Amino acid sequence: METNTGFKDGFLWGGATAANQIEGAFDEDGKGLSSADFVEYIPKDQRTKDNHMEVTTEHIQKVLSGEHTGRFPKREGIDFYHRYEEDIKLLAEMGFKAFRLSIHWSRIFPKGYEAEPNEAGLAFYEKVFKTLKSYNIEPVVTLSHYETPYGLTERYNGWVDRAVVGHFEHYAKTVFNRYKGLVKYWMTFNEINIINISPFTGGGIISDKLENPTEASYQALHHQLLASSLATKALREIDADAQIGCMLARMKHYPYTCNPEDVLKAMQEDQMNLLYTDVHALGEYPNYYKQFLKENDFSLKIEDGDLETLKAYTVDYISFSYYMSLLSANSEEGEVTEGNLMNSLKNPYLEASDWGWQIDPIGLRIVLNEFWDRYHKPLFIVENGLGAKDVVEEDGSIHDTYRIDYLQKHIQEMKKAVQDGVDLMGYLAWGPIDLVSMSTSEMSKRYGFIYVDKDDDGNGTGNRSKKDSFDWYKEVILTNGAQL
Ligand code: BG6
Repeated sequence: METNTGFKDGFLWGGATAANQIEGAFDEDGKGLSSADFVEYIPKDQRTKDNHMEVTTEHIQKVLSGEHTGRFPKREGIDFYHRYEEDIKLLAEMGFKAFRLSIHWSRIFPKGYEAEPNEAGLAFYEKVFKTLKSYNIEPVVTLSHYETPYGLTERYNGWVDRAVVGHFEHYAKTVFNRYKGLVKYWMTFNEINIINISPFTGGGIISDKLENPTEASYQALHHQLLASSLATKALREIDADAQIGCMLARMKHYPYTCNPEDVLKAMQEDQMNLLYTDVHALGEYPNYYKQFLKENDFSLKIEDGDLETLKAYTVDYISFSYYMSLLSANSEEGEVTEGNLMNSLKNPYLEASDWGWQIDPIGLRIVLNEFWDRYHKPLFIVENGLGAKDVVEEDGSIHDTYRIDYLQKHIQEMKKAVQDGVDLMGYLAWGPIDLVSMSTSEMSKRYGFIYVDKDDDGNGTGNRSKKDSFDWYKEVILTNGAQL
């Protein structure tokens, strides 16, 4: 039955996080190191591509030998590991129906390739999931959110090696068996497209060890897509009531001008963004991708049976993040601005966040319609939000009207898309509680309805407090989107 807002009863309103950005306790209870534990906080003026997302062999060696003096905020998170009960209580107060989090793979298999899991890690997530369930909040769980166990980097250079597929399958089966009946919604790889943008972040791959890192990143992608299908197969066998989705950073490309050259370029860049969901949803490598591989002289090692596996085990739903849109141009002209995972030309019709991400609520309606038309599978927005600096007033209040404005406009467009006929399962705002930024490791880039008292240098009490957006979102959920 539908309410008059168009959103289904049981619509999954809530928020999304990742283990490495919230948990902390990076070396407690048997957890091994993961790729996220190597990411250092670098102030903006000193940041380069190599020192904040991608890392080099030299960097890894310095960290392991202790020569390094930097701070690693993803090792600290916001201490959710110890404060999860308090945090979940606050989410429940907002009326959350769903909470997305990831399992830190290296808590379960410290090096990634052990045969036996670490019981303390399994027990931690069991407590978290049971706490969520006690408030009727559905856990939505990502198996891998930029947290490849470092053991897999050390032994295999991460996902470039096919052996990692088997280790992932073993990890997936272990958690599916353990949390059967507790977790209904799963996702395999967060923003799987990052593997071709930042291979270390997406797959624990150190590019300077490779002769042709770009080609290797597409080989690694094949491994992840295969692993994703094998996890889907395993879930169907282990817990037939649960569902599994993929996860794409949707990057809608508009043409910079109506020059057909730009339109073509936008179409091609859009195809390459949709490649990942094309395989996950339709079970085949599309022709444009085969052509891309040919033109670049990339040859992938695909073993007998792989293509059949991709075809047989496609996802139940399409989940994705949406923050912004991008522009494509056939020429090099135009002013550039920063964006999620990649930069873009500036769109004169859009405003941008303080981090340069171009704010485009109508783009959300467009991508929802496009996804639905292309796949006819249920859609799930599992990340959307505004990273902004908040000001704490003397009385402790935080008036984050800019955040409310961003979310309100996006939810309005989402409502229109549902009225257009799109089948939407839910909406999860990114970072409902402030967390460590993925791209910059800053705390000051805040997304939350709940403020965490901690700064970029790690100072602060860690205490939680409500922002104005807290009560606003509570009302949105309570009215199933009628009151925005
Ligand atoms: C997505 C990631 O790309 O964007 C999250 O899945 C991330 O992990 C979010 O935090 C926002 O990006 P950032 O860089 O502002 O933290």
